[in-house]
Amino acid sequence: MPIKTAQTPRLLSRPVFFSPLIALLLSLLLSACAHNPNEPYKPLQAQHGKDVMWMPTSDPLVLAMLDMANVQASDKVYDLGAGDGRIAIEAARVYGATAVGIEYNPKLAEFARLNVEKAGLQNKVTIITGDIFEEDFSSATVVTLYLLESLNMKLKPTLLKMKPGTRVVSNSFGMGLWIPDNAVQAPNGTIGMFWVVPSNIAGRWQISRLPGFADNTTGEINLKQSFQFVDGELSQPNNPKSPTIKVEGRLLGDVLTLKYTDSSNQPQTLTFTVDQTQWRPTNTPSAKPVAKRLPS
Ligand SMILES: C[S@@+](CC[C@H](N)C(=O)[O-])C[C@H]1O[C@@H](n2cnc3c(N)ncnc32)[C@H](O)[C@@H]1O
Repeated sequence: MPIKTAQTPRLLSRPVFFSPLIALLLSLLLSACAHNPNEPYKPLQAQHGKDVMWMPTSDPLVLAMLDMANVQASDKVYDLGAGDGRIAIEAARVYGATAVGIEYNPKLAEFARLNVEKAGLQNKVTIITGDIFEEDFSSATVVTLYLLESLNMKLKPTLLKMKPGTRVVSNSFGMGLWIPDNAVQAPNGTIGMFWVVPSNIAGRWQISRLPGFADNTTGEINLKQSFQFVDGELSQPNNPKSPTIKVEGRLLGDVLTLKYTDSSNQPQTLTFTVDQTQWRPTNTPSAKPVAKRLPS
């Protein structure tokens, strides 16, 4: 069953704390309460942030999101808007990953660095003081977010240009028409959403050796792509009387699951590992390519 993007409930579509005036007054009030030069800095929930306030992801959702992203020791996790550093710290502490948090507020970034030190993870976790719209996070294999849908939408073009297979998780907020590949709900009801950056395979492909058709079947397909979904019609220019075959597919990174009905009217579901130039059967990668890109 397709997963629907969580929608911000209508009543909350302009939550009161997003009103710039109220947010400013609230943050002034909070910083006045917080200001005690003799005490070490401690962030306050809902305190003002450059593009969004600070609100920590709950501990169970941190783990549920990192689990859903299948974080491994080999991963480089970037938390965009790192707050107190908890996501970056857990990615390193629980999963052994290398992690980087980017936080705009210098005091909060310093607080996160102290938390990294307390956890003894200085060799695994770096906190950068910077703006997520200016810092380079292109080396991430996993990106974590707890921002706003509008900010996710602003990041979306950058995320979609990242290496296919890069995993993205977001607390509560979606990516518009780029629907999640998976979602998880923490015991407190908060939702984490998960996407895998798809390969870009839109365009013309020459297809041969497609299972379910005669060996010499060669055809051409012009694939349309909308995020992780592709569709098109396979035509056989060498065999003009043959009917066109509708194909539909879904990408999870560079793995394409393709569905079509073969010449015996049997449904076929096949997986291919794809790149910019060719598709190979995923379970027999040494086999000859089934598809090669044609100039568009
Ligand atoms: C909702 S909090 C999430 C904190 C943390 N990622 C978590 O899930 O616990 C968003 C954080 O983004 C920071 N932030 C807001 N705009 C930013 C920007 N342009 N660049 C970097 N950090 C930003 C805020 O200061 C805040 O700490």
